[in-house]
Amino acid sequence: MTEESQLARLGLFDARVPRYTSYPTAPQFTDAVGSSLFRQWVGAIAPGSRISLYLHVPFCRRLCWFCACRTQGTSSDDPVIAYVETLKSELALLRDVLPEGVTLSRLHWGGGTPTLLPAAQMRDLARAVFDVVPMGEGAEFSVEIDPNEIDAERLDALAEAGMNRASIGVQDFDPEIQQIIGRDQSYDITRDAVDMIRARGVHSLNADILYGLPNQTRARVADSVQKLLSLSPDRVALYGYAHVPWMARRQQMIPSDALPRPEERLALFDTAQELFTWDGYEAIGIDHFARPEDGLAVAAKAGTLRRTFQGYTDDTAEVLIGLGASSISRFPQGYAQMSPATSGWTKAVRAGEFATARGHAFRGDDRMRARIIEALMCDFRVRTDELVADFGLTRAQVDAMFAPVADHFGAFVVHNAGGLAIPMPGRPLTRMIAARFDAYAMAKSGHSSAI
Ligand SMILES: C[S@@+](CC[C@H](N)C(=O)[O-])C[C@H]1O[C@@H](n2cnc3c(N)ncnc32)[C@H](O)[C@@H]1O
Ligand code: SF4
Repeated sequence: MTEESQLARLGLFDARVPRYTSYPTAPQFTDAVGSSLFRQWVGAIAPGSRISLYLHVPFCRRLCWFCACRTQGTSSDDPVIAYVETLKSELALLRDVLPEGVTLSRLHWGGGTPTLLPAAQMRDLARAVFDVVPMGEGAEFSVEIDPNEIDAERLDALAEAGMNRASIGVQDFDPEIQQIIGRDQSYDITRDAVDMIRARGVHSLNADILYGLPNQTRARVADSVQKLLSLSPDRVALYGYAHVPWMARRQQMIPSDALPRPEERLALFDTAQELFTWDGYEAIGIDHFARPEDGLAVAAKAGTLRRTFQGYTDDTAEVLIGLGASSISRFPQGYAQMSPATSGWTKAVRAGEFATARGHAFRGDDRMRARIIEALMCDFRVRTDELVADFGLTRAQVDAMFAPVADHFGAFVVHNAGGLAIPMPGRPLTRMIAARFDAYAMAKSGHSSAI
């Protein structure tokens, strides 16, 4: 049997498995977590410690058809300006509960398109953030930048506020593919945005690119990757295009019959991966590439890579607070998500309360499963010693939970005294292997989990 048919037999090409940016995953959240628990968890942050902050801006000037992000289109600045005012009120609520002396490890503005904020609002919002939580030493301030929605004035505002990492959305450079996915963005526009970003001393650059797009071929993906390489990003996220038109209605504009077959998707990923690694990038986790000197590559080598709602990170902060509609926070005690609808979030914050709508408080063996899943997604291995030391298990108990997974995935998984590891040929199955340790997903599917 070829490797491809073995992967097919294991269900790789039909599987719908989470990307595990958290465990349990967001669909498992319930309304058991509300604003009083959120306040309690914020209040329990150690005084003087470092936390990370995510600010969500759910607006875009254009609504690209391929995009599965929750965002609303607006041609006017009014709703955006009103949104920033509410974010500032939310930051004021945070100030009231945040313990003394807390500083930032990471600040990330994401969306949607945070760069559609007018320059004055960008400055204002950054000031409001640093008034509540100042940047700690060596902290990183990153912003998602749509190359079509940025100019010198707004970049000046971001650079002056301290942005030191920019993340640009590329997706694909091919004009015909751009047309079919409803995202017009010439190479020149992207290159100009990169030049403007670098001219302001922001030397860390991330780029997002997609494989599995309609009409994408290996030659076309190779061409896009080469164009991207000419811009020398420090990090690249190579995401598989998720076609979910029943959830993201805009995707109904994309003809399903133009999508590559699942086997071809794997070939597209492999083509892009080969080009990145030939060019000296390190492969990080399931879908990232980074220059060897980039923090992500350094963390991957040191075994300190982590996975959060924003994907892979070298951030070591225990707490990530998300502000803005639909944003998710992570605490040692669990997860908390703000109301997904901008209207509900605005109403709560204007009434002087956090808009926490749902979440999950860790219980039972959640933390152990979360550790196993994060380790597989980041390092492609889980060490038995670590589980024994941190969760009070015996080696026999750990072996008993790894053995059925090793049986199921055969040569694609290695199980020995050291633990469980996913060798190179098994890496496309990583999310499926992780899912075997997801008690919630396994219960829904009618299987028993690996533990
Ligand atoms: C929230 S978007 C923000 C990007 C920014 N607004 C822009 O357009 O450049 C972040 C990334 O999510 C990824 N993304 C959006 N929809 C996707 C989908 N259907 N499948 C896979 N990745 C997707 C894209 O790579 C995109 O750059
Ligand atoms: S890709 Fe970016 S600009 Fe396009 S709809 Fe999604 S968030 Fe908005």
